[in-house]
Amino acid sequence: MRHLSLAFCAIMLLFVAGCTDRTPVSHPTDEPFRSVYHHTPEANWMNDPNGMFYDEANGVWHLYYQHNPFGCTWGPMHWGHVTSTDLLTWEEHPIVLYPDSIGTIFSGSAVIDKNNTAGFGENAIVAIFTQSERIGQHQSIAYSTDGGYTFTKYEGNPVLMGDIADFRDPKVFWDEQSNQWTMALACQQEIRFYGSSNLKEWTYLSSFGKDLGAHGGVWECPELLKFTMHNSQCTMTEDKYVLLVSINPGGPFGGSATQYFIGDWDGKVFTPAPQGEGREGASLWLDYGKDNYSTFTFHNSPDGRLVAMGWMSNWQYAEVVPTVAFRSQNTIARDLFLFTDDEGEYHLGSVPSPESLALRGEETRYLPDAGIVELELDGKQDALITLSNDKGEKVVMNLDVHRRTFSMDRTASGDCSFSHDFAARTVAPLFVKRDTYHVLLFIDHCSIEAFDAEGAWAMTNLVFPSEPYNHLDVQGGEAKIYNIR
Ligand code: FRU
Repeated sequence: MRHLSLAFCAIMLLFVAGCTDRTPVSHPTDEPFRSVYHHTPEANWMNDPNGMFYDEANGVWHLYYQHNPFGCTWGPMHWGHVTSTDLLTWEEHPIVLYPDSIGTIFSGSAVIDKNNTAGFGENAIVAIFTQSERIGQHQSIAYSTDGGYTFTKYEGNPVLMGDIADFRDPKVFWDEQSNQWTMALACQQEIRFYGSSNLKEWTYLSSFGKDLGAHGGVWECPELLKFTMHNSQCTMTEDKYVLLVSINPGGPFGGSATQYFIGDWDGKVFTPAPQGEGREGASLWLDYGKDNYSTFTFHNSPDGRLVAMGWMSNWQYAEVVPTVAFRSQNTIARDLFLFTDDEGEYHLGSVPSPESLALRGEETRYLPDAGIVELELDGKQDALITLSNDKGEKVVMNLDVHRRTFSMDRTASGDCSFSHDFAARTVAPLFVKRDTYHVLLFIDHCSIEAFDAEGAWAMTNLVFPSEPYNHLDVQGGEAKIYNIR
């Protein structure tokens, strides 16, 4: 018996030694689906980006995020924190907001209080967020006097008590028309607006959204954006406003998605612009993939830009995707702008931000496992673009010039077994007819983001191939492949 157990121990020792020799050790940064150039939390769970702002004095982008530090599924929410100087590489910092007796820390925003309206100090960073507890959701604030690295909760919290079950995700901006802070808040299937002079006392202004847009699920993460000539490709005689509203479920391909409304804002009420004939009541979508949710812009982005990032997942399967040490990643940074389609209708466009484009390195003949592909597709014939690997796993994209659509099929892309909602084909309208369509593909270890290079549509989809795609086949066009820097 003793001999047997000694032999067993020896075999186990050899086995363990063998493992350390041959098997790559799985630690937080080296698992196969860890994104190379998308932000992922070092470990554990992440959902929505929160409180994003740009510190112009130091050239630093701050990104907070919904975080469960205790595991890889949704749990007690905290605000995690990362910073970047290039929107591509991220430095992780300690958690800034912890749950307390008012509740756990849900989504919200942050502003730089340049004029000390709240009394926490000139240029204090003030975070406005939801605290969620079993019987309700309330809005609280916290302030930072060290540039956003540590926060102190305001002793008068909560600053806005909830009176209904879903009452959350405050996004605050300074409104020049009414000369006050203005909050967009998701309330079940409506957006409510509130105004404040000091970020502590809030007055109800108006509600928007009853019977408008998609209502297949709860409304979340709203943001009101102002568009001027500066961030528009249209001839505009006056400013236009866009209200972003995430919805879950109820997205065009199932589960989560971000819809938007275009209209006017008078400092109190958001009035949607009339939609063209035959389009009345049609929902508009920021992204035509399955994996771009809770999109927000960075407060104080430079040069009046609207720089946005979204959570690159979908509540249908976010908690079961086959990553190990972490779950979820954010999209690349995108700049938002307004454009008009061939019928003269306004749309919200998005292009990869210049910072994201700066990722493009040397041209190469071989498809790297993280890279950028530029496609030049002839507008007169259909195009078929296939990314595949030696296992026969593939993602098939199709430009259909007659239907005027771009589609992406991930039904055979790799592991789809973790959720019956994952295998899908997503379709985007082209919106603008072009002689040549330029399409950009941002490929990372578990995602493909496709863009009309001029921003008329975007499509973000996760993929989990058992080995990286190493073949690219293009019919109906040309491709240039780039390594990342
Ligand atoms: C959106 C959301 C928000 C909420 C947060 C909780 O993904 O449901 O409405 O604040 O996630 O983690």
